[in-house]
Amino acid sequence: MTDQRHVLRPTYTRDGVRAVAPRLQIPDGEMEPTSAYQLVHDEVMLDGNSRLNLATFVATWMGDEADRLYAEVYDKNMVDKDEYPRTAAIEENCWRILGSLWNVPDVTDCIGTSTVGSSEACMLGGLALKRRWQLARRTAGMSADRPNLVMSSAVQVCWEKFCNYFEVEPRYVPITAEHPCLDGSNVEEHVDENTIGVVAIMGVTYTGMYEPVQEIAAALDALQERTGHDVPIHVDGASGAMIAPFIQQDVVWDFRLERVHSISTSGHKYGLVYPGVGWVVWRTLDALPEELIFRVSYLGGDMPTLALNFSRPGAQVLLQYYQFLRLGREGYTAIQQECQDVAKYLARGIADIGAFDLWNDGSDIPVFAWQLKPGHTENWSLYHLSDRLRMKGWLIPAYPMPDDLGDVTVQRIVVRNGVSRDLADDLLADIRVETEWLDGLSSPMPVEGLRPSFHH
Ligand SMILES: Cc1ncc(COP(=O)(O)O)c(C=O)c1O
Repeated sequence: MTDQRHVLRPTYTRDGVRAVAPRLQIPDGEMEPTSAYQLVHDEVMLDGNSRLNLATFVATWMGDEADRLYAEVYDKNMVDKDEYPRTAAIEENCWRILGSLWNVPDVTDCIGTSTVGSSEACMLGGLALKRRWQLARRTAGMSADRPNLVMSSAVQVCWEKFCNYFEVEPRYVPITAEHPCLDGSNVEEHVDENTIGVVAIMGVTYTGMYEPVQEIAAALDALQERTGHDVPIHVDGASGAMIAPFIQQDVVWDFRLERVHSISTSGHKYGLVYPGVGWVVWRTLDALPEELIFRVSYLGGDMPTLALNFSRPGAQVLLQYYQFLRLGREGYTAIQQECQDVAKYLARGIADIGAFDLWNDGSDIPVFAWQLKPGHTENWSLYHLSDRLRMKGWLIPAYPMPDDLGDVTVQRIVVRNGVSRDLADDLLADIRVETEWLDGLSSPMPVEGLRPSFHH
């Protein structure tokens, strides 16, 4: 019989809760579920507040109906397409909707999939480029053992991982003060017959700037005329592929450019879904080598699948469809525009403080970075400002830029759905106060223990 007295004991006097939770070994016995809940609940209180996490691109708020739907469907396994055929059908609706948003030539002839995030989506995009190149080389009787991938030194770490895990030589084009993004200007120095593709980023992680995909494509067209190398582009649109279709329709970056073979995005960034869901779409069935596709049984027929994972949550895919239905083009446009307006407002406010030079102002994706004005102070750096703001709850990373700008430290704000103007005003006030405090120092702050913050 259950010991009723134990159940009645006040929470923090129960055996499990009074002990230090085990860290290295599974405990021998059981614990009241309410006690286990309380222990885990209390431990994560020490995390930062996700809504004040202006380092992350990932959605931290969806609203009550989405939360309800999430709670109803958290048990769906995305890989069980035969058992959950409607979830599978909704996944397909989503990537076809994205294909249309990205101006795919024929929405019935494209192919795509959901993933756990942009990293997996980028890996799949990269794998398709690699296999396509290998097949063409082998058919032509040429060696296919030294593939390389050309991209900016400011790519997100997922591309370094791709090259490492799948044995592709990474060819980084360094960013410089004159060329803060990959812009195709010296592409011929890096591209050769072994280049499987070029990555163009819509929304560089470090700064939020768009790489000019149209210019990169034009440079590759010119290169093809000169050398015969026909090099495809994968657009890493982790953030921008869900911003540009709504608020920058005149920017030509997507399948309107023939050279763009595939596009990936994070549903959990400006797709406005909780982590983790990503998407990748290829412009035609031909752009994705057939051998990479596995067929699973689905509704009595077969369903092509392409993924690195097997089991993974289906709930986020359903939440993505919920957002498409709930918001439509108008809703997404309103949200992305508001994020951009708040980003520009914050950028102006930070520029007005006088201590900082803006790197950009949030007019690509609603993300911007700044640096300390050269010569402003010897007493403190943006790492100190980041620490001071953290004491007030704001998580705003400072970090070095990539090669060749590694001696420049920047700080960055990501404005997401839910960073209201009101919050932005509170943040600006705190940045002003902390900058004034730092400027009032009569000697340098200690630098021991300072390190770049995580800026994924
Ligand atoms: C440009 C870019 N690509 C890829 C990624 C990886 O995305 P995910 O976290 O969805 O795997 C990010 C994340 O910030 C990114 O900014």
